[in-house]
Amino acid sequence: MTPDPLTPVLTRRWQSPRSWSIDTYEQLEGYQALRTALTAHPDQLIQLVKDSGLRGRGGAGFPTGMKWSFIPQGATGPGAKPKYLVINADEGEPGTCKDIPTMMADPHSLIEGCIITSFAIRANFCAIYIRGEALHPIRRVRRAVEEAYAKGYLGKDILGSGFDLDIVVHAGAGAYICGEETALLDSLEGRRGQPRLKPPFPATSGLYASPTVVNNVETIASVPAIVQGGSDWFRSMGTEKSPGPKIYSVSGHVERPGQYEAPLGITLRQLLEMAGGMKDGIPLKFWTPGGSSTPLFTAEHLDVPLDFEGAAAAGSMLGTTAVQVFNETVSVPWAVARHLRQHPRPELLRPR
Ligand SMILES: Cc1cc2nc3c(=O)[nH]c(=O)nc-3n(C[C@H](O)[C@H](O)[C@H](O)COP(=O)(O)O)c2cc1C
Repeated sequence: MTPDPLTPVLTRRWQSPRSWSIDTYEQLEGYQALRTALTAHPDQLIQLVKDSGLRGRGGAGFPTGMKWSFIPQGATGPGAKPKYLVINADEGEPGTCKDIPTMMADPHSLIEGCIITSFAIRANFCAIYIRGEALHPIRRVRRAVEEAYAKGYLGKDILGSGFDLDIVVHAGAGAYICGEETALLDSLEGRRGQPRLKPPFPATSGLYASPTVVNNVETIASVPAIVQGGSDWFRSMGTEKSPGPKIYSVSGHVERPGQYEAPLGITLRQLLEMAGGMKDGIPLKFWTPGGSSTPLFTAEHLDVPLDFEGAAAAGSMLGTTAVQVFNETVSVPWAVARHLRQHPRPELLRPR
């Protein structure tokens, strides 16, 4: 079966020379969506993202426009709480490799998405929380933020719109739990990252107890394309309840591991074709659809549509679309034990 064709959206600049620079980004229509967005009313942007059906790419698939609309917009003036946008760039789920490549190859798509999102939710401060070990992405995104300030896309009165935004790139200390959004907020505030009890939810009491949207890198990097292309165009890719393009990180026993952009709902059979098939022709034994936290699939699941509904209906989860492929030579208990050894405190897992 031939994979469904998809003109790349999220990865379309990745092959361009110096794709990470602001000059390349601008040459390839970068920051055009921001100009369009700044002429719209913030509520129109929230409605656009709701209509697009975009769902969070950090694992849970929560509808993005709906999340934005939970930010209370009533209170303004002195004493009103500020609103914040926080980008989850922790990418801790084993097997997941889509946010770091996005930040390395196309950091401005994330920054443009941050500016549009902040404008929509009326935030004037955005923090990008990147895991501390990821030194290269931290440097690259920091540099891209500097370039965006120099060009007037960040700071005061962005492009003469009257809208102000500051972005800070924060390096985390590297803990899987800090990917959980409320633990991430604690860590960002300078404390040990531990999940908070919910409610209250971040939308009302997030960073510094103020209304906060937490979104994944890939989610926010999808926003400029939605503003440019419109919600119907976005919905023309993927499935009815899981629309749009997605980056699948394919690793393990395949001929060509890597990041494959495809419409949501693609199957492993199709992804394997894109990745050159099973390595050395050794048959498939099992695989994860969305990282080590998602229940394993086997060769029986080759035709399961990899969207939020399809993966769940077949007994697993779409997670972060980290497709780890294992051939017949691998023992399942060994692989699962190996995953557990990535536990942040391996000494707790050793027999005493
Ligand atoms: C233990 C745990 C780890 C998580 N790690 C990440 C992560 O590394 N990156 C991420 O974007 N979301 C992660 N999440 C999901 C976040 O809590 C949150 O749902 C997400 O950042 C929301 O963004 P989205 O709506 O754009 O997906 C994790 C959740 C849990 C429970």
